[in-house]
Amino acid sequence: MDIYEAIKKRRSIRKYISKPVEEEKLKRVLEAGRLAPSGKNVQAWKFIITRDVGLKDKLIEACKGQKFMKEADAIITVCVNEEEVYQYHGNYMTSFAVDGAIALQQMMLAATAEGLGTCWIGAFYEKDVKKILDIPAPYRVIGLTPLGYPAERGRDRGRKPLKEIVYNEKWGNSYN
Ligand SMILES: Cc1cc2nc3c(=O)[nH]c(=O)nc-3n(C[C@H](O)[C@H](O)[C@H](O)COP(=O)(O)O)c2cc1C
Repeated sequence: MDIYEAIKKRRSIRKYISKPVEEEKLKRVLEAGRLAPSGKNVQAWKFIITRDVGLKDKLIEACKGQKFMKEADAIITVCVNEEEVYQYHGNYMTSFAVDGAIALQQMMLAATAEGLGTCWIGAFYEKDVKKILDIPAPYRVIGLTPLGYPAERGRDRGRKPLKEIVYNEKWGNSYN
């Protein structure tokens, strides 16, 4: 599957079958995250794979009871060391959230190419997720996704047309 097909095919998947994800597929998905760009190439991220049913139950609670997450074989949590990134950038700006978001999105697209489903989970209580997964203080949780074999194709939620979101040269000039 090429990159354009994966981008088009990816949907938020909220129903999964109970089939385990093969280790080699999981590795390729993680590799897509590992290869993501980050500010100054700091790579201050950790990806946590959670398959334990008890931990998944707790994570679901921390994600405002999004029960569908449990059906998926695994939950991936992306966290980034906020302090390390800030220091690396000379204590004047940060890219920790962007870094983590790129890594998570690359994993989600790779998962699509592998025939797997994902769903960005941004609704979570960060303090609770950190406690459940023993994530140390300087790390911030960027997002989570269930990862598993989809039991649905996902809904086409539609997108705004380019002419509504692209300007030519300067703000306000329409782009054809
Ligand atoms: C930052 C962010 C947070 C999101 N949080 C959630 C969430 O907590 N639960 C959920 O079911 N979907 C969540 N989504 C999925 C969006 O609802 C979904 O991407 C959007 O409706 C477009 O649908 P699509 O992903 O199928 O193209 C989130 C997406 C993003 C980018």
